[in-house]
Amino acid sequence: MNDDFKKVFGSEAESTFFSPGRVNLIGEHIDYNGGKVLPAAITLGIYALINPNESRTIRLYSANKPNQGVIEIDLDEKIVFDVKHSWANYPKGVMFFLQEEGYQLFGADIYYQGNLPDGAGLSSSAAIEVLTTFMLLSVKGIEPDKVWLSKFCQKVENKFIGVSCGIMDQFAVALGKKQNAILLDCQTLAYDYAKMDKVLLNHDWVIMNSMKKRELAESKYNERRAECDMALEDLRTKYTLANLCEAKVEQVNELIFDSIIKKRALHAITENKRVYNAMQALKDGKIKLFGELLNASHYSLQNDYEVTGFELDALVSAAQNESSCVGARMTGAGFGGCAIALVEKDKLQSFTENVAKKYTQETKLIPEFYICSIGEGVHKL
Ligand code: GLA
Repeated sequence: MNDDFKKVFGSEAESTFFSPGRVNLIGEHIDYNGGKVLPAAITLGIYALINPNESRTIRLYSANKPNQGVIEIDLDEKIVFDVKHSWANYPKGVMFFLQEEGYQLFGADIYYQGNLPDGAGLSSSAAIEVLTTFMLLSVKGIEPDKVWLSKFCQKVENKFIGVSCGIMDQFAVALGKKQNAILLDCQTLAYDYAKMDKVLLNHDWVIMNSMKKRELAESKYNERRAECDMALEDLRTKYTLANLCEAKVEQVNELIFDSIIKKRALHAITENKRVYNAMQALKDGKIKLFGELLNASHYSLQNDYEVTGFELDALVSAAQNESSCVGARMTGAGFGGCAIALVEKDKLQSFTENVAKKYTQETKLIPEFYICSIGEGVHKL
């Protein structure tokens, strides 16, 4: 990568940083409902090489989007979102908010290269935000607090990019730890690491890419959030609740009459319980139970939250039908993208072959599989 940096910018890079993508093991669409989630950073991610250039311009280049060439950002002009800048809007958002918070930025050349599949829901956007923030501060000798870092990057995504995501993705890529998932309470941001060693003794996580690009994901995502807000409003006419996940099923049955809103609320409440039960199962080494909870999570996302779609359902059901698969579910926002499966280590090949065959028969799409290791959060190399 160093040679490529030189080809683009004509100088050597001073340092290299890495930020992972993430999968969410369980606890889907509840980060913005105050629930608990269980994501993990993965070893796929984005690298960035940086060299200060003693000017007032930051020059950005992505090896994954070579046609866009070098994008120049003048630090003395107001930084604004620009559709033409596509991927570069993420680093631009970071620069905008760092300056807003009073950090003095300096000119630099930055080269990005990632191995996260595009539009697959493995959080490439959180990865580039966290990577850029961490790198720009580290080069100035500042080691940012990782919880601050994730909140800061969520703000970039919400306010500069305009996607009302929760905190989970940024948190996972900032605070990831090798072989551990993160149990995060999204109401308080209290977190704990959950060792995956018992699960990973005889099993591997397989990321299954449906190759169906996420469509309408942002508008549907915002629609679900609004539906959850309506559910909470109905419940609060009688009960004092900090968030939707805190409600009880009986309260939903008592106070929510719209069938769609009711289903959304039931998903949030039951999914939060599943996270709790999954943590118990992990502690007790009950892998089979853990797998059943993954399956139940997908079922709820398919029927009550309605964010899966034909392709993800076909992929997950093909995986669940394999006897080597303990459990499978969609991961991330849904509406296309990736699913995960927990599969016996010595049956990986037959698993991927059988699932691919069945999935392609049904959808005419050729899925991709990544055998996933759980890695560290953002760091300098
Ligand atoms: C996206 C969002 C997250 C979370 C998931 C669904 O990845 O960025 O905040 O809401 O969807 O669990």
